[in-house]
Formats: sequence, structure tokens, C-alpha cells
Amino acid sequence: TSRLIIDTDPGVDDAFAIALAALSDDVELLGVTTVFGNVPLANTTRNALRLLQLCGRDDVPVAAGAERPLVHPQAARAAHVHGSDGLSGRSAALPEPERDVEPGGAVRLLVSLLEAADGPVTIAPIGPLTNIALLLAAFPQVKDKIDRIVLMGGGVDRGNSTAGAEFNVWSDPEAARRVLVEEDVPRVMVPLDLTYRCAVDTAWLAKLAGTGPIGAALEALTPDYLASYRRSLGWDGIVLHDAVAVAEAISPGILRTESYPLEVDTTFGPGRGATLVDRRLPGLRGEGEGTVAPGAVQVAVDTDVAGIGEFVLG
Ligand code: BDR
Ligand code: CA
Repeated sequence: TSRLIIDTDPGVDDAFAIALAALSDDVELLGVTTVFGNVPLANTTRNALRLLQLCGRDDVPVAAGAERPLVHPQAARAAHVHGSDGLSGRSAALPEPERDVEPGGAVRLLVSLLEAADGPVTIAPIGPLTNIALLLAAFPQVKDKIDRIVLMGGGVDRGNSTAGAEFNVWSDPEAARRVLVEEDVPRVMVPLDLTYRCAVDTAWLAKLAGTGPIGAALEALTPDYLASYRRSLGWDGIVLHDAVAVAEAISPGILRTESYPLEVDTTFGPGRGATLVDRRLPGLRGEGEGTVAPGAVQVAVDTDVAGIGEFVLG
């Protein structure tokens, strides 16, 4: 089994992603770190603790990380998508955690888990990239222990927060640039273009509710999220964004990837927070041809969409 750490801002799709990893026999979930994002840090942290309690996994250490972006304030949260508390206003229905977070915060937990791991670790960031940027900047020695960073974020041909920017990148573009452009660890970026294709309908949600008490509790967290996607998709369904990335973290190769250099727009123009995936013909990407980043990123471009839905149902 491989080793995994999730960095998250739950978030309804984060909740699916956490449960997927917490209940999987194929992965050892070493820890969960939290970050501001969909809702404030206090909510995302409490939600993470409650979700692990629901899954019977209060053995998994949790630490709270950044409560705001590295440089500029967060432009907007996403309570209009995930509900006032991040879980459709239903987080209080989850079991009360019987423990607290680890002292010392997210970066310290990440460092100690990576240093103690007896083999390579996958990190799955499914919120703004602030904690991961801080980790890589301050503790470069732990990069040797990172097998891959498999993150949900960015877009190739579209955004969701703005025309060009996806929410996780838009929430802290400077951190995203640090992780996606300035570092050279192996990275898989799971962009909106692919996650939007991994939408599931209300029949899928009903099936989830029927899998048992945990599935029923997860399904009960979806009403506000469903209402928001009903408006944006124009049909009765939700998008599993973060669970798609965690599926790849658990089962490498479940997503098909292609390698591209990319840039993250950290200017204050209309493209702030956009990921510019350099899909020019390779012959046009030579030196001096523009924004060629040093390291390429594996961009997830395709998958068996129905298979992902089944995988998340478990
Ligand atoms: C991402 O933004 C958040 O609202 C979701 O949890 C996901 O991580 C999708 O753009
Ligand atoms: Ca998220």
C-alpha cells in the first residue's frame, strides 16, 4: 500500500475525497492538513476532524494550516457553493470529534510525517496551495520523500471563479505558482476540464446513501452543493472535483495525463489565477518563445468517467 497525506478545505467534494482515502485498503492515510478556502480555516479544520470521526479514523492526525494566502487577501470564499459551514450547513450532524488537532500546525505535521515515513509519500492538495508552498519553501529537504503531488486545481480551457481561474489556484495564485512552476517535484494537476466531466447525478447520490451509515451521512451533506450545481450545470448533479484527484493519488494511472510546461498568472489583470498550460506544438516551445516553465507538470486529461463514479462509491 502507498502512503498518502491530504491537504484540504472541506468542502463537500473534499468530504468525498477524505472518505475515499480514509476507507481505502489501498492506501495508508498518514495525515490530514487543513487550509482556508471554501470556508474559513476554523470550519475546514472542524469539518476534517468530524469527517475522520465519521469514518472511524480518529487515528489519522489532523493539523490546521494557513488561515489566509501567502501575499494577497483571498478574493472570495465559496460558501455559495458548499454552504455556510462548508458542508451544506449540515456539519453539526456529523459525529463530534473526540480529539483535537496536532499542536504546531500543518507544516510541522507535514514535515514530521514525511521525515518519519519509511518510503515515498503522495501528497494530495485539494484546496488552496498555501501550506504546500510553505512546506516546499521552508523544508526543501523533505522533497526527497515526496513521490508525487497530485492536486485538484487549475484549468486548461476554462475557470470557475473567473473566466480563466479555478478556485483553488485563484484563492492563492502566488502559492500555486510556487508549487506548479518554481518547484521540481513530480506533480499531477487535475484540472477543472477533467473534473467537470466527472459529474454524478442524483441516482448516484441515492446509491451512495444506500451503501451504509457513512454513505448516508455523506449524502446528507450535499443539499446546498447540489443546489449550486443544479444552477451551474443545468441538471441534477454534482461534480466530484477533489475525489477525482484523490482517486489518482490512491490508484496511479486511473487518470490519463500529458506532460506540459505551465505558468500561473499572478498579475492583477483579468487572468489572475489562471493556469496557462503550454500546449503549443513542441517545436514552438523553444527558448525565448515565451513562458516556458522549467519543470513540466503532468496534466490529467482523460479518464473512464463512469469508472471514477464507481471508484468513489467504493
Ligand atoms: C475546487 O474548489 C473548491 O470549491 C472545491 O472543493 C475544489 O477543491 C474546485 O474548483
Ligand atoms: Ca477543495
